[in-house]
Amino acid sequence: MEFYDVIRERLSVRAYTDQAVPDATLARILEAARLAPSACNRQPWHLYVVRDEAVRQALFGPEKQDWAARAPLAIVACSRPADAWVRWADQKNHADIDLAILFEHIVLAATAEGLGTCWICAFDPKNVRAALRLPVELEPVAMTPLGYAAKPSQPNSRKPLDQIVTRL
Ligand SMILES: Cc1cc2nc3c(=O)[nH]c(=O)nc-3n(C[C@H](O)[C@H](O)[C@H](O)COP(=O)(O)O)c2cc1C
Repeated sequence: MEFYDVIRERLSVRAYTDQAVPDATLARILEAARLAPSACNRQPWHLYVVRDEAVRQALFGPEKQDWAARAPLAIVACSRPADAWVRWADQKNHADIDLAILFEHIVLAATAEGLGTCWICAFDPKNVRAALRLPVELEPVAMTPLGYAAKPSQPNSRKPLDQIVTRL
């Protein structure tokens, strides 16, 4: 798929079939994640690929996101803040920025593969930590179901460019 078509095609998918995701497709998506840039190339992240249905229910069920648990796969992106670059001027830790870039690589690669995703940050980190038995140094940042859309998503509106760009 052409790059700008991928950008236009990507929409949050909140209805999934149970059709399996081929291993080769998943491998390409994970490789796209691996190639993401990060501040000072610290790569302060770790991904969990979850096929286990009980674990997927434990991730999405508590937030009533059962639609997400229906997809055959979930990906949870965790940061390792202690590994992230910290800006000297104000001590800003860049782990969340790095994670967002990694995650959007996953989302766009999945779109190019004809798969649906949906950023999910509305979760209680305590539940996600327990479901994945996360080591203390990892922080769950975002997760997505990964699978085939059961129905087309409708595009949401965006602010016009003149409201979000200042040209000097
Ligand atoms: C950081 C972030 C967190 C989000 N968290 C959730 C979420 O917890 N649940 C959900 O259904 N959608 C979530 N979304 C999806 C947004 O609602 C969605 O991207 C936005 O409404 C624009 O719609 P679109 O993705 O279809 O273009 C999140 C998106 C982002 C970028």
